[in-house]
Amino acid sequence: MNIIVLKGGISSEREVSLVSGKIIADTLRENQHQVTEIDTVLPMEQLEKKLDTTENHLRRGNSNLLKLLHHDLFRNCDFVFNALHGGEGENGEVQSLLMMHGMKFNGSDSTGCAISMDKIISKLIFERYNIPTPKWEHFNRGKEETIEEMVRDIEKNLAYPVVVKPANEGSTVGLTIVNQPEKLTDAIHFSRKFSKEVLVEEFIPGRELTVALLDNRALPVVEIIPKHQIYDYECKYADGMSEYLSPAPLPQELTRRIQAYSLLGFKALKCSGYGRMDLRLSPDNKPYFLELNALPGMTSHSLVPKAAKAAGIPFSELLEIIIETGLRNGR
Ligand SMILES: Nc1ncnc2c1ncn2[C@@H]1O[C@H](COP(=O)(O)OP(=O)(O)O)[C@@H](O)[C@H]1O
Ligand SMILES: [Mg+2]
Repeated sequence: MNIIVLKGGISSEREVSLVSGKIIADTLRENQHQVTEIDTVLPMEQLEKKLDTTENHLRRGNSNLLKLLHHDLFRNCDFVFNALHGGEGENGEVQSLLMMHGMKFNGSDSTGCAISMDKIISKLIFERYNIPTPKWEHFNRGKEETIEEMVRDIEKNLAYPVVVKPANEGSTVGLTIVNQPEKLTDAIHFSRKFSKEVLVEEFIPGRELTVALLDNRALPVVEIIPKHQIYDYECKYADGMSEYLSPAPLPQELTRRIQAYSLLGFKALKCSGYGRMDLRLSPDNKPYFLELNALPGMTSHSLVPKAAKAAGIPFSELLEIIIETGLRNGR
């Protein structure tokens, strides 16, 4: 197949995407596909020069992707493997452009991406479907509220420690754990640098788990043991900063329940193809779902490849299944 791999982009997760994109492109070439890599941030002039090589670039922003979509490169393309993470690559914008051009691509459509990118909307849906999620408050959506008023709401309804995070970022960017009231306002200001909407949740002590969803089934649960208190940027991407147990050592009944919640959440958020639910497991073994990643990382540290391996699916086959499900999704 002729496959275009989109990577890089302008989000805070650019570096991760470059690594994912490279591994995906290399593996697809090993699988005998014709692959063109496009970094969506570099200038158009470079794109023009290099158009017939394997490495192409387009300028930041979707208008350039829109232009490029008319290029022969895309006309002759059978499948777009979007390896972008965060920002426009994961929030539905790139997906909607591809859909409008009749392109087949990996993972969820624009609706699923837009919903799951928004942690506040995701939590509202989780609650509706009785999928347990940490108690929470939010700031600046539909209510004209000052930070002082928000702090009052938080103090009334939540217990410390709390986690303050932007409503639509990834990779633990802009997130702070707050143990005492004096630190709360600073944490909200910090989070607002990344997103005007802020989510505050009760901190759930215990274990860190994640569940990959692939082709409408949940893969084995993976446990993460980060060196830090939370699974932060460094623990996610630096060598040796986390240990992984795959499958997670959990009672069978609990595993099944976590997998069932994960699949339900995946469908409820209108996602398809593949994705990954992140959750905490409290010391009394209660799961609390944090978010769904519609376009999870695909580096050698990444969790979906680990979960697939635990299910007996090697990386090269995982990519083929993702392509197959993307081709099947009629959009
Ligand atoms: N309510 C919470 N309780 C405990 N830890 C949390 C909570 N929210 C986030 N974390 C920690 O921060 C990490 C990142 O949070 P998450 O909501 O998954 O956002 P993202 O991965 O998009 O940055 C989690 O994997 C977890 O380690
Ligand atoms: Mg997460």
